[in-house]
Amino acid sequence: MQASSSRVHSSQPGVHPGLPALVKRHASSSWRKPVQQVDLPALERLDAALANHQGPVVLDSFCGTGQSTAMLAARHDDALVIGVDKSSHRLNRRPAAPDNCVLLQAHCEAVWRYLVGRQQKLLAHYLLYPNPWPKPGHLSRRVHGHPAFPLLLALGGQLELRSNWQLYVEEFGVALHLCNQPSCIAIVPLDTPALTLFEHKYRESGHQLWSVTAKLS
Ligand SMILES: C[S@@+](CC[C@H](N)C(=O)[O-])C[C@H]1O[C@@H](n2cnc3c(N)ncnc32)[C@H](O)[C@@H]1O
Repeated sequence: MQASSSRVHSSQPGVHPGLPALVKRHASSSWRKPVQQVDLPALERLDAALANHQGPVVLDSFCGTGQSTAMLAARHDDALVIGVDKSSHRLNRRPAAPDNCVLLQAHCEAVWRYLVGRQQKLLAHYLLYPNPWPKPGHLSRRVHGHPAFPLLLALGGQLELRSNWQLYVEEFGVALHLCNQPSCIAIVPLDTPALTLFEHKYRESGHQLWSVTAKLS
């Protein structure tokens, strides 16, 4: 990873005007993309991990190297803490982690659908610095513009998304509001330990960091 990081630049001046229609369309339909072969081994590992666990479940979507997953597993020591990232390159740089931590190489959306299919509810769900996709034409690649967004909501729990792009966090908050989920937007305090490598890098580069939190009903 580079030593310093440039801020997110976007030609989009405010919340995307197409967001309400997109979120409502996704809320009234099901995401039908077939399960990808590449995700099957991770879903099998997830199945086995859940079969051996009776307690709460915490999800760390877009976990990168899994540094946050290890920290969250220490924080939630009675929970199964699952980190998901599609990149083997990132996951191969995982730190040592407690036994209640599982890292999966998979698409997050496939894991959300699998968990919803099992009627598995979450204690907490972290989405720390997902890719911003700053071009306006990339709205549907952002988490809140993706057709799998209703699955994320169905997982419930205490949700926290962080980004160094204020507009991403605001847009996510608007998408939650459109789905009748109140949320709270705040600046991530500078005096809390960095949960992820990207968070550390953004802080070193002087970026303001933003969070949106919600207790999903
Ligand atoms: C900006 S990095 C943040 C990683 C980590 N959360 C951190 O803060 O250090 C975004 C991560 O999302 C992963 N990613 C992007 N799209 C994904 C998807 N659909 N499913 C799973 N991982 C994805 C990338 O591989 C990358 O590791």
